[in-house]
This record gives sequence, C-alpha cells and structure tokens, in this order.
Amino acid sequence: MMVKPDGVQRGLIGEIIKRFEQKGLKIAGLKMLRITPELASKHYGEHRGKPFFEGLVKYITSSPVVAMVLEGEDCISLVRGMMGATDPKKAAPGTIRETFGIDIGRNVIHGSDSPESAAREISLFFDEEELCNYELSLAAWVYE
Ligand code: RTP
Ligand code: MG
Repeated sequence: MMVKPDGVQRGLIGEIIKRFEQKGLKIAGLKMLRITPELASKHYGEHRGKPFFEGLVKYITSSPVVAMVLEGEDCISLVRGMMGATDPKKAAPGTIRETFGIDIGRNVIHGSDSPESAAREISLFFDEEELCNYELSLAAWVYE
C-alpha cells in the first residue's frame, strides 16, 4: 500500500494508516521515499503506453510517498475494498478514495491488486531486512 504524494501533502498519512491499524491489519514495513522516474516506470509498467501514463509518472514522482507492507487474512481484497474504486467519483461511500478524493488522477492511495503484484511491488520498494517479522499481540482479538 502507498499513500500517494497528494495524500502526504494533504496531511492524510496518519488518517490512512489509522484506518488499516484499526481494521486489525499488521504493519510489516513502513517508509517514506521520493519515487524516481525509473521506479515509477517499473511500478506502473503495466500502464506504459496508456494516455494517462505520463501524467501518472509525473504525479507519483512529484513529492514523497509513504509505502507500507500490510499483512492479514485476505489482506489484498480487504485493502482494495477500503481504498474504493480507482475513480473517487465512483468509489463507495466511506472508502478512502470516496472520502478524500475527487479526481481520478489524485486518488490519494495505491494498493497492490494481486498477490503477484504485491510481491513484485514489495521487492521494488523494500529490502528484505526492512521488513519486520513479528507476532501482533492483538491478532487473537481480531481473528477467531
Ligand atoms: P493504483 O494502481 O494506483 O492502486 O490504482 P488502481 O489499481 O485502482 O488503478 P490502475 O488502473 O492501476 O491505475 C493506476 C493509477 O493511474 C491513474 N489513472 N488515471 N486518467 C485516467 O483515466 C486514469 N486511469 C488511471 C490513477 O491514479 C490510478 O490510481
Ligand atoms: Mg493498479
């Protein structure tokens, strides 16, 4: 998951992390970084050639982001659901993008869309030793 440049600039880092923490997900890695054009092209490689690609790279490299690795049962679909649809105008009420976004090109948050893309993106953004393997003591209060 990533708080995009607009989320950072608008002071939404804490609000967004809070939602995932309060859901009961485990944070296994967390960092702030400025995405380079090279990293942006790799991260959004699937969109190369699309009309919005250039603007997307410009946006994602425009200011620091906060990248994190979240863990939990059905984590990917859970997080994507909490984010809401790509276009904030179409996102379900109460989702992050619906609550904080207006424009599809300023949709505040990124989330991996499959286990394969999560693995790829985690390796793009984190070194192995930057990830923390630990027991979350509240797990017994989140899962039956
Ligand atoms: P993301 O990868 O950022 O989590 O978003 P997503 O899966 O919901 O959407 P995706 O199709 O992967 O698109 C990546 C990002 O490109 C921008 N976008 N702009 N102007 C447009 O038509 C358009 N379409 C996509 C959005 O910032 C989107 O999050
Ligand atoms: Mg995507």
